[in-house]
This record gives sequence, C-alpha cells and structure tokens, in this order.
Amino acid sequence: MPDIEELIRLAVRARDRAYAPYSNHPVGAALVTDAGEVFTGCNVENAAYPLGNCAEQSAIAAMVLGGGRTIRELVVVGPTDAPCTPCGGCRQRIREFAGPDALVHACNERGVLLTMTLDDLLPESFGPENLNPRKS
Ligand code: THU
Repeated sequence: MPDIEELIRLAVRARDRAYAPYSNHPVGAALVTDAGEVFTGCNVENAAYPLGNCAEQSAIAAMVLGGGRTIRELVVVGPTDAPCTPCGGCRQRIREFAGPDALVHACNERGVLLTMTLDDLLPESFGPENLNPRKS
C-alpha cells in the first residue's frame, strides 16, 4: 500500500503532464484502490472550454480501465498552495466509486494541506445504491 508521500509524488508527476493552457491551472491526482493499486490523472483542457477533463476524472477513467472499482484514498495537487479541492462534478464522480469514509487529501509538493472524507465533501449524497437498493 503506497504511503501519502508516494501518492503526492505520483500526483505531482501527473500534474507535470497536465494540459491546461487556458486556465494555467495544472492539476494532478493519484488514487489508491482497495486492492492497493494506484492510478493517476491530470486535467486535459480543450479550446471548446466545457469539454475539459479534471485530473480526478482522468484518474478515475484510468482506474476503471485498469479494473479497479473502489477508491480508498485520493490525493489532489494543484499549482498553488491554496488547497485544490475537487469540483462539484468530481465529488459526484468520486462518489460513484468510494464510500463515505474515503479520504481526499488536497496537497502541495511538500505535504498535505487539507484532508476530508468523501462524506465531508458530498453529504447526503446520491449514489448507485439509491438507484438499486439491492446492490448496496
Ligand atoms: N481542476 C481539476 O482538474 N481538479 C480540481 O480539483 C479542480 C479544477 C481543473 C479543471 C480546469 O482544467 C482547471 O483545473 C481550472 O479549473
């Protein structure tokens, strides 16, 4: 199981690959699954602005492609020392694959700035089990 320093290193490496020419706000994310596997992602913007992808979204896509289904912990690293907390849409995207106690850490290169649970970020949330109670 990777420790937080390793996740931060991987998220910084992902941020270095970001494509963010419009916002100049590169973001990297590194998540670890319940199986201990790590997946990373960066934001990918587009000249048609609303089509841009967030770093968390990219990491989740990588996880799904790699066969992962449950996020245990997620690190997000933005370009400044202001904590880069997941946008509203990404909170819901994380919710699809994480339980309420999953940890989300907003970090810079040097360490953790802010740690939240998914339930802190998205209380009283709507998820897969709301659609099909037997699956929960
Ligand atoms: N962004 C992320 O990738 N993750 C976040 O947690 C917040 C914002 C991206 C989206 C956009 O490419 C840029 O940062 C500015 O909003």
